[in-house]
Amino acid sequence: MKKVAVKANSNIALIKYWGKKDEDLIIPYNDSISLTLEEFYTITKAEIIEADKDEFYLNGDLQEGKEYDKFKAFVDLFREKSEKDIKVKVESKNYFPTAAGLASSASGYAALAGALDQIFDLNLSKKEISIMARKGSGSASRSVFGGLVQWHRGNSDQTSFAEKIEDPTWDIGMLAIIVNDKKKKILSRAGMKQTVETCPYYKTWVESTHKDIDQMRDAINRKDFDAIGKLAEFSALKMHATMMATDPSIIYMEGLSIEIINRVKQMRAEGIKAYFTMDAGPNVKIITQEKYVDKIKESLSDIVEQDRMIYSGVGKDLEILEVE
Ligand code: DP6
Repeated sequence: MKKVAVKANSNIALIKYWGKKDEDLIIPYNDSISLTLEEFYTITKAEIIEADKDEFYLNGDLQEGKEYDKFKAFVDLFREKSEKDIKVKVESKNYFPTAAGLASSASGYAALAGALDQIFDLNLSKKEISIMARKGSGSASRSVFGGLVQWHRGNSDQTSFAEKIEDPTWDIGMLAIIVNDKKKKILSRAGMKQTVETCPYYKTWVESTHKDIDQMRDAINRKDFDAIGKLAEFSALKMHATMMATDPSIIYMEGLSIEIINRVKQMRAEGIKAYFTMDAGPNVKIITQEKYVDKIKESLSDIVEQDRMIYSGVGKDLEILEVE
């Protein structure tokens, strides 16, 4: 019986996705642009089993309840598409702290989509795998590709997918600062729903992202690191502003997150190329270049432990490691 192992890297958005127009299909209100990271990834093994139901192990633990239901609904999409009524056993392992704001659902669902494509013999293109991954978690659509990636929001199942912009050969990466590795209190899915429903600035956020996307594409074309960093900071802060202005408010930032943000600005004034971004959690990711990493770590050493600062360069496309 067929067995596969697939690896997908995580990604961090430079222009953020926050809000769904269609919650079932996961069609977003705005496009987003991300960088795929090689040090944070998921390896997912899948095989066909003779059983009455699917099995799902996440980081070694058998999943039940909500987590299992979400997984099963995702496998159902592949059963329907392939018209094969087979059951699968899936073991997924994240090589970074789960749900710590480092988007493990992105690499998780991308790897799962890639593995199920093999198991169900669908032979989908990367674009089609991105469409399937999107239905597990929006940001997963982008983790199918390496490098700099754009998720086109589209307006239907088939028109909402991610695409590679380029594999940067120039120096760019991210230093992830783990402020808190506990599971986040409000998951992105619930947080963005609340934002769409109650934030009075939501429409303005959506409109402003269209311009951010155009400017980011330009900055990437020019390989203009400072412009990329500035736009990424602007997008992250605008997103956090919409989260805060909801009812009830959602505040992901912690005291240390703000302290790190201030330090990044200070470092920049001293000539270090560093820009921050944050997602639906308290961790800060510093967009920088490899040559500055040691200096940045040293500058933060009085407030962050060394092993809580992890640098990653650019990651590659989804990769099939084994097929048996
Ligand atoms: C803040 O992709 O995790 O990281 O589509 O509901 O699964 P669902 O949400 P998810 O949201 C990611 C939100 C973000 C910004 C981003 O990655 O663009």
